[in-house]
Amino acid sequence: MYHKKLKPFPQEFLWGSASAAYQVEGAWDTDGKGESVWDRFVRIPGKTFKGTTGDVAVDHYNRYKEDVALMAEMGLKAYRFSVAWSRVIPDGDGEVNEAGLAFYERLIDELNAHGIEPVVTLYHWDIPQALQDKYGGWESREVIEDFTRYAETLFKRFDGKVRWWVTLNEQNVFITHGYKMASHPPGVQDDKRMFQANHIANLANASVIRRFRELGISGKIGPSFAYGPTYALTSKPEDQLAAQNHEEFQAHFWMDVYVYGTYPTVVWNWLEENGVAPTVEPGDEELLKAGKPDFMGLNYYRSNTVEANPLDGVGLGQANYSGKKGTTEASGIPGLFKSAENPHVERTNWDWDIDPTGLRIGMRRISSRYHLPVLITENGLGEYDTLETDGSIHDDYRIDYLRQHVKAIQEAISDGVDVLGYCTWSFTDLLSWLNGYQKRYGFVYVDRDETEEKSLDRHKKDSFYWYQRVIASNGEKLED
Ligand code: BG6
Repeated sequence: MYHKKLKPFPQEFLWGSASAAYQVEGAWDTDGKGESVWDRFVRIPGKTFKGTTGDVAVDHYNRYKEDVALMAEMGLKAYRFSVAWSRVIPDGDGEVNEAGLAFYERLIDELNAHGIEPVVTLYHWDIPQALQDKYGGWESREVIEDFTRYAETLFKRFDGKVRWWVTLNEQNVFITHGYKMASHPPGVQDDKRMFQANHIANLANASVIRRFRELGISGKIGPSFAYGPTYALTSKPEDQLAAQNHEEFQAHFWMDVYVYGTYPTVVWNWLEENGVAPTVEPGDEELLKAGKPDFMGLNYYRSNTVEANPLDGVGLGQANYSGKKGTTEASGIPGLFKSAENPHVERTNWDWDIDPTGLRIGMRRISSRYHLPVLITENGLGEYDTLETDGSIHDDYRIDYLRQHVKAIQEAISDGVDVLGYCTWSFTDLLSWLNGYQKRYGFVYVDRDETEEKSLDRHKKDSFYWYQRVIASNGEKLED
């Protein structure tokens, strides 16, 4: 669709940026914080790139004022960050740790004082280790009540100070990596357990949204979902069917549950056929239907291209966590789909397709299927950056990537999609879970790497000044 004239960004558009507790805070055992599953997982040899941990990360816990001052200088309208459950309730279900809550209160107050909207994520993958040990974390229905009580603690404490809440970050990612690929905690490869844990996470997600409504908390709430639209490699009907499978199994399987409280029929049929359907108890459907979100949070990095995959075809392939271009292996689910190389797009050094039009298509698919506004909760480019001797960082490749994606958002707005805001990933550089510190996303360079903490000094990249101009012009000045 081509428009003669694009619609402007809404005046109240949330120009933002994002992070997650484990990736920025550090201070992993400070002020009464409990151990999270990631604090434990990173200590298993071979699990992370060069053995990196978030023990110190980029020291945001101690430098949050400096970071917020930089956000204010940039003109940021919103900052999305996550709360570490184990900071607030160290063992997950016991006493509330006032020192942990107080940290987030200081951060929220600092943001509000600078006119920056806090967008608070309740869960970005760091369940308390104590709950993992006690009942298997997301695999037990006990987590529903514990997660809801934790969320309620935050709702009550920050009602009036926070207007934007995100429930689970990328449930599809933490469940798949945790129980299929074993690359995230708890490091399991078991489809039956995966679909069971996923169902329970769905219930927990719905439960906190229902509690949010019951408590009459002001503001909006929704999940953040990792979604990139799927393309078929060719117009062969079997490839088209594979693309349809991918959308159903990798996207509708989660988003339909969030919005409609039901699983897609085709996927449910497959789960039963393969003996891996989760146990649904009386009352589950009612709870799922009570958890309808106010918006769909969209984390978009890339689109996907797939082709047909026979029953004896490709399964899990090696992903690229090294930054060596071209090392990703084909991956798929036999009988459903397998990944293919899209010949029409460029790729990053980590083999992620660069596809701004995919963002527009993704937003339109969400808007048409779910009739909800979209809040882009993550989008960005992970690449190597070079700190020059004068302290500058010339990341024109990142500016290019972001510029094209901002244009795609404006096109989607012009198509009629209701877009609430755009949080780039990320504000400062931070720890990439499996890729260490070399895969950088920030507007602000942090002086550290995998082997050394170095000075942890902050340096503004060229993209910092670019986004500053974009915000100041409300999306009108996209050129350098
Ligand atoms: C998203 C996550 O999946 O992608 C972030 O919500 C993550 O936490 C980001 O850092 C980028 O992924 P990666 O693997 O490049 O760090």
